[in-house]
Amino acid sequence: MSKAAGRLPRTSKVPFGGDYNPEQWPEEVWKEDYRLFDAARIDTVTLGVFTWALTQPAPDVYDFSTLDRIVARAAAEGRNICLATGTGAHPAWLARAHPEVTRVDFEGRRHRYGQRHNSCPSSPVFRRLSAELARRVAARYADNPAVVAWHVGNEYGGACYCDLCAAGFRDWLRRKYGTLEALNTAWYTTFWSHTFTDWAEIEPPSALTEHWRGPNHTAFQGITLDYLRFMSDAMLANFIDEKAAIRESSDLPVTTNFMGMYRPIDYHRWAPHLDFASWDNYPPDDRSPAWMALTHDLMRGLKDGQPFWLMEQTPSYTASRDVNPLKRPGVMRLWSWQAVAHGADAVLFFQMRASRGACEKYHGAVIGHAGRDDTRVFREVAALGAELERLGGATLGARTPARVALLFDWDSWWALEISDGPSRLVRYQQVVHAYYRALWEAGVDVDVVAVTADLSRYDVVVAPALHMLKGDLAQRLTEVAARGGSVLTTFLSARVDEDDQAFLMDIPGPLGPLMGIRIDEWDAREADVVNPVRLGDGDDAREVGSRLVFELVIPQGAEVVGTYQADFYAGTPAVTRNRFGAGEGWYVATGLDQAGVSWVVRRVLARHDLLGPYPDVPELETTLRVAPDGTRLRFLLNHSAEPVEVAAIWAGTDLVTGETVTPGQPLRLAGYGVLVLREEG
Ligand code: GLA
Ligand code: ZN
Repeated sequence: MSKAAGRLPRTSKVPFGGDYNPEQWPEEVWKEDYRLFDAARIDTVTLGVFTWALTQPAPDVYDFSTLDRIVARAAAEGRNICLATGTGAHPAWLARAHPEVTRVDFEGRRHRYGQRHNSCPSSPVFRRLSAELARRVAARYADNPAVVAWHVGNEYGGACYCDLCAAGFRDWLRRKYGTLEALNTAWYTTFWSHTFTDWAEIEPPSALTEHWRGPNHTAFQGITLDYLRFMSDAMLANFIDEKAAIRESSDLPVTTNFMGMYRPIDYHRWAPHLDFASWDNYPPDDRSPAWMALTHDLMRGLKDGQPFWLMEQTPSYTASRDVNPLKRPGVMRLWSWQAVAHGADAVLFFQMRASRGACEKYHGAVIGHAGRDDTRVFREVAALGAELERLGGATLGARTPARVALLFDWDSWWALEISDGPSRLVRYQQVVHAYYRALWEAGVDVDVVAVTADLSRYDVVVAPALHMLKGDLAQRLTEVAARGGSVLTTFLSARVDEDDQAFLMDIPGPLGPLMGIRIDEWDAREADVVNPVRLGDGDDAREVGSRLVFELVIPQGAEVVGTYQADFYAGTPAVTRNRFGAGEGWYVATGLDQAGVSWVVRRVLARHDLLGPYPDVPELETTLRVAPDGTRLRFLLNHSAEPVEVAAIWAGTDLVTGETVTPGQPLRLAGYGVLVLREEG
C-alpha cells in the first residue's frame, strides 16, 4: 500500500446532508428536523462539531447525556453519522484555568478567551484534553453502527507565536538540522550578523522579530519558511493526537475538513495521516468555476486520486464576508454536481438548521428560521437529494484517468510570497489558477498533485511558478520530456533550493537543460504596465498582453515561440519551446494574460491530442470518472446562465433524467444544467 492510500467511509450512495447542531434547539424541534430531512432525502449528519463545553462542562466532569440523545436520535432515524470530536473550539473554563491554551498572535498579543479555532497547538493542556475528549467520544460511540466516520477538530489553521510554540519550534529545528551549524548554513545567517550560537537564541519570526509590515515581509526567508512548516506540523500533531486516541477503540475512517487552497497548512504533509480527505467549498465569488475545479482536483490529489468528501458548502449564502451573495437558482445543484464530477463521494452542507443567534444567524441553511419546507432553497436541496438517490452508488470510488498533471507546492507558494523581489504583485494562486483555467476551458481532466507525485503516468506536466525546486524533481521532470511528454513551466520557477537559497547557476537552475534557455536578468513593473507579446507566426500569430514580471530569456537551443514587443527587450523571447529527448520543455517567461496562457496551453495539449470535446465552449465543463467496475461516467456541466447546445459524442444514459443519448444528437443543457452520462458500448 502506498503511503497515500486510505479508505472512505462505507456508504451505499453519495452521502447527502451536513453539519447539524441539535444541541442549539429544544428536542421538539429535532422531530421536525427529521421530518424535513426525510423530505429532502438527507441521509447523513455531521454531529458534535462544537460541543466541547457541552460534553465537558468542567475540568473533571464529562457529561454525554445530550450528545447521547442526539446520536441515538440520528441512529434511530436511520441516518449516517459523521461524528466530530468537538475540539474546534475550547470551553471558556479551560482558557480561564489555563491561559496558555489561547494563542499569541503575530504582533505578540496573548489572546484571552473568545472565538474558536484558537487553541495553541503546542499547549500540553490543550493536547492532553483534546485527545482525552476524542478518546471518550470514540470509545462511547464506536460501536454505534450509524457512525460511519470521525471528524477531528474543525478547519485547522492560523498560527501561534507563544513561548510554548517557540520551544516547540526549537525542538523541531533540532530534529531537522541536528546542529546549529547546519541551521546557520540553511538560513544564511552570516548575512546581517545573525549567526546563532545557542538554540535558545532562536525566536519565532513575527512582528517583534524578523518581520516588518506583515507575515510576508521578513528579513530571513529561511526562518520564516521553517516556521510555516513547523506550524503546519504542530497542528498536524494535534490531529494525530486525536486520531491515535480514536484508534484505541475504532477503526472507522478519520478525516478533518480542509479549506482547499489554504496557505497556512501544507495539506500534502497532512494527507498521509488522514484516511480520506474532505473539504469546505466557499469560493471567493460566484464567477469562479475553474477555481473550484482546481481546488476539488487538489483535494482529490491529496490521497493519490482517491475520492474525497465535500464536507461543507452553503445551500444559499455565507455570512462571514462583507457582502454575501445568494446562490442563483440552479447554482447550488450545479456546484454540488461539479464536486461529484471532480471526485467527491459526499455532498454535505453547512448547515442543516440556521442558528438563531451569534455570527452565523444569517448564514444559509437547509432549514431557515421559519422552518418552512416550501422555500426555493429547501426545494432545490430536496430536488438534489432525489437526484442523488437516483444516482445511487454509481460514482462511489470512481477515479479520474487524467493524462495531465499540474504541480501544486506549498513550499513554492510560501517562498514566492515571502520573497523580497522581484515583485510582491505575483500571487502564487493566481498564476496556478491561470494555467489551470486554461486546461479547464480546454476540457481536459487534470490531476493536481504534489511535487513528490509519480509523474510517469502523465503526458503533460504543468508547473506554474514552481519557485522552489526540491529533491529529485528536476530529474523526474526531465524524464517526462525524455520519454516524449511535455513539461511547461513559467517565470520565477526553479529559482531556489529547499532552503530558499538561489542555485549557483544560470536560471532556471537545474531545469536549464530541459528548457534550453538561460536568464540573466528580469524586470518587474506595476500592474498597469503591459508589454505586448507576439505569439506564433504566419496566420496563426497573435498578440496578447503580459504583466508584472518580464524575464529576459537567452535561448540555449530552445525555439522562440513568442517575443516581447516593447521596451529595450522588444524582440527577445517571452515564450520558448525546447525539443528534449522525445518530448518538449516549454517556458513562459512573463505573466501572460489569460488568452496568452490558453494559447500556450492548447499548443502543448494539441501535441498529445488532449484537447477536450468542446474546447470552443469554455463554460461547458466536461469531466470523466471511471467506476471500480470500469463504468465510464461523463459529466457535462453548464456554468453559464444561458443554455448551450453541442453535438453528443458519446452513447449512454443520463443518470439524472434517465434519457438516452446517441452520438451526433444535439445535446441541449439549460442554463446551469447538468448531465451525468453513463457511457454505453
Ligand atoms: C466553516 C466552518 C463552519 C461554519 C462555516 C460557515 O466552514 O467549518 O463551522 O462556520 O464555515 O461558512
Ligand atoms: Zn502557542
